Parts: sequence; C-alpha cells; structure tokens
Amino acid sequence: MSDTTAKTIPLSELRTPEQEQAEFGAEVPAADELELHEINPVNAYLFQQDRWQGHFARLRAEDPVHFNEIQTAGRYWNITKYDDVRTVDGDWQTFSSAEGIALGLKKGSPEPEGPGRSVSFIAMDPPEQTAQRKTVRSVAAPGNLRNMEPLIRERTVQVLDSLPEGETFDWVDTVSIELTTMMLATLFDFPFEDRRKLTRWSDIVFAIPEPGGIIESHEQRVAELLECVTYFERLWEERRENPGNDLVSMLVHGEATKDSPTSEHLGNLILLIVGGNDTTRNTMSGSVYGLNKYPEQYDKLIADPTLIPKMVSEIIRWQTPLPYMRRTATRDTELGGKQIKKDDQVLMWYVSANRDESVFGDNADDIDIERENADRHLSFGYGVHFCMGSRLAELQLRILWEEILQRFERIEVQAEPERTLSSFVRGYTYLPVRVFRTT
Ligand code: HEM
Repeated sequence: MSDTTAKTIPLSELRTPEQEQAEFGAEVPAADELELHEINPVNAYLFQQDRWQGHFARLRAEDPVHFNEIQTAGRYWNITKYDDVRTVDGDWQTFSSAEGIALGLKKGSPEPEGPGRSVSFIAMDPPEQTAQRKTVRSVAAPGNLRNMEPLIRERTVQVLDSLPEGETFDWVDTVSIELTTMMLATLFDFPFEDRRKLTRWSDIVFAIPEPGGIIESHEQRVAELLECVTYFERLWEERRENPGNDLVSMLVHGEATKDSPTSEHLGNLILLIVGGNDTTRNTMSGSVYGLNKYPEQYDKLIADPTLIPKMVSEIIRWQTPLPYMRRTATRDTELGGKQIKKDDQVLMWYVSANRDESVFGDNADDIDIERENADRHLSFGYGVHFCMGSRLAELQLRILWEEILQRFERIEVQAEPERTLSSFVRGYTYLPVRVFRTT
C-alpha cells in the first residue's frame, strides 16, 4: 500500500533520515519516559524498533484522541481506540480521503514534482471512488478467486518445494516476496520473467531515502518510477487493442476509468501493485514470526489444521500491515471531547484499535488462534474504502499454511527479524528461518 497514491505527498517521501532523526530522534524512549504531549506515533523508528505497543497503550488509556503538530505536516490527530476509528472510517463526508491517505504536508505547502503525484481511487471520496472501484473489484470477487485458487496453490507448492532443508535462508525474500509477486504478475498478466520489477516498484514507492537503503535519493525514486510508467504505458496500449481478463485491461476499458487522465491510470495501477504486495507479504512473514513467538499456538495449529482460517484472521489482526490511514476533516467537528478543525489531518491507528483491550480483552497483544472475535479486526479498514483485496489476501494465506502444514514439521525462526523503517507499513525486511520437512 502506497502513501504516494495520495494527492498530498507524504512525509516519508520528503524526509531524509537526518531530518527524520531531527524531528523524532532515532532512539525512541519508552512511553512512560515521555510527557503525554511528547508522544508522537508517526515515528518510523518506533516501528522499526518494535516499540510502539506501550506508546499506543498509554494513548488509549490517557488520551485516545491525541493531538500533535509538527512543522512539516501541521495539525493532526491520532485516533487510537477501536470505536473512534470506526466512527471516523464510517463517515467519509466529515473525514475525507481526497487529500491523501498518509500524513502529508501542511495544506498550502509547495509540493515537489515527480510520478509520486499520481492519484488513485483510494484517495478519492464517493461518488468518483465508488465508480472507479467498481471497474476493478471483480478481480478479487469470490467467483474469480475460485478460479484462481488452483493456480495460487500450484505456485505456493512450487516455492515451498524448492526451499533448502536445514539451512538458514531469508523467508521474506524467498517465500513472502516471491509468492506475492507471482500473484501480482498473474492479476496484471504482467510478463512473468519481469515480475520482480513489480516488487521493486512497490518497495521504492514508500521507502525513505538513505545511504545504503532501498533507495538513496528522491531523484533515484523518480527515475525508477518513470521506468514503471513507461512499462505500464506499453502494456496499456497493448491491452487497448487486445483486452484480456486482467487488471490493466479492466482499467483501460472500464466505463469509469477509460477516459481518466494518465496520472489517474498510473495512480490506480500503483495502488493495485502496492496494495496487494507488501501488505500480504508482511502478513506472510508475520505469520511465521508470530507463530514462532507463540510456540504453543503453533503446536495447536499443527494438531488441528482446521484452525487455519481463524489463525489467518488473528494474524492479520496481530500484524496489522498498514498501521494507519489518514483522513482530512471537511468541517469543524468533535470527537472524544476534542475539537477537530476543518483541514486537520486525522490518523486512524488500526494497529492500536486492533490491540484495544475493550474489544479484544487483556490478551489483545498476544496471538490466540482461537480468539472468538479475531475477524472484527480493522486491518482491512472499515466503510467505503474497505480493502478490495481482503478475500484474496486471506485466500493466499490460507493456502500457504495448508501447504506448509502438509510438508514441514516446523519452520524455525533463527533470529529476531529486521523491520521496515516506516510508520505507514508495518513489516519485515529480513527473517532468517530453517525448515524441517515431515518425514
Ligand atoms: C484498501 C489493507 C491486501 C487492494 C485497503 C485499506 C486497508 C487495506 C486498510 C483501506 C484504505 C482506506 O481506508 O483508506 C490491506 C491488508 C491487506 C490487503 C491488511 C493484506 C493482508 C490487498 C490486496 C489487494 C488490495 C491483496 C489487491 C487486490 C486494495 C485496494 C484498496 C485497498 C484496491 C482501495 C479500496 C478503496 O479505496 O475503495 N487495504 N489490504 N489489498 N486495498 Fe487492501
């Protein structure tokens, strides 16, 4: 999921690591070492260091609708309780997506140039959003998923059967990225041999430029995304003449999208590339990491594979691959006793709502694969923008675990993972594991 699909350029696009550190500080103090007003959850290091839990627990308990103001972004509110997040997500008239879905620059700031300015329907409100969403929604609808299931299974089996036994390898790259990239290539009918380009484009959209990082500069991102633009323009022209049953053809020929400006076509393509990519990928990695962290839950799953669908919901809750989505107030309003002003940014922290004790109980931070209400999680959002690919993501995870349980006694995590430097995407960049086949 990309924050550059937003109309407002997100901060992660603009900040260098030095600026990020100057604004927030690389060493994140524990929540109880801070004054309440100093707590600011939009801090990529909080997530990279996996120290966000205490910060949100304190906000939920003491200040559930929490105000921050920083120079670049201006005023914004952090919504941390389950019911409040649903209230905001359920009211698109008051809380609009049209200004962007990630914390962005203060209104009126000059925006930099580049392909990151593309717009997609995730950053629109009804009725435009409804019409454009309709054009592509059939790709992840139940009928299409039934048709795709055998292919997803075949590819999953292929990847799992090629894993080295008893040797340490990176689960993120070898399995999670490979499987989600294959899936995307299928949805777009993208040249299979070039499929890793999709992964690359998806990764660089939200990466923070840093020396030795995924990208080193904003200019590098722009140059690489231009390659993406050129590549898709070619596919676009091909499918205009010879349509298939793929996402590019659906957008080229869809009533609501066929006459859209190029920036919107590209925005929607990037939305679908990124939306379906790192979210599912990070949940796949999160499932292996999480079940190793809670080995008694892993044992329970091995003993009873019919728990897989419940486990999938619980892992999606626990992982929350997109920690927040942003809205912008269209008028002055009140929430939780706080006065929200027109144009204030409002961040719905799904990652906190999913750990809300009043909904998920005292063990909300833990994985419980038999949790009765796991499917009430807000990881897919709520309301008119509810994730279009939720069923597809669940299907991929279900198949992955059905096939894992059939061939491996255990997947053993060898060390703590390395995590993504982002507060918008909660994920893993490296997860060393070993697999042991069932004899
Ligand atoms: C929207 C999460 C997988 C495509 C969303 C939203 C969330 C989300 C939170 C709501 C955005 C908002 O309210 O502003 C996730 C998670 C996934 C996942 C956690 C995996 C575990 C996928 C997949 C696809 C996809 C596989 C691709 C087919 C989309 C699209 C939207 C969306 C197109 C925009 C819907 C709209 O604006 O109407 N997703 N997603 N997602 N997702 Fe997903």
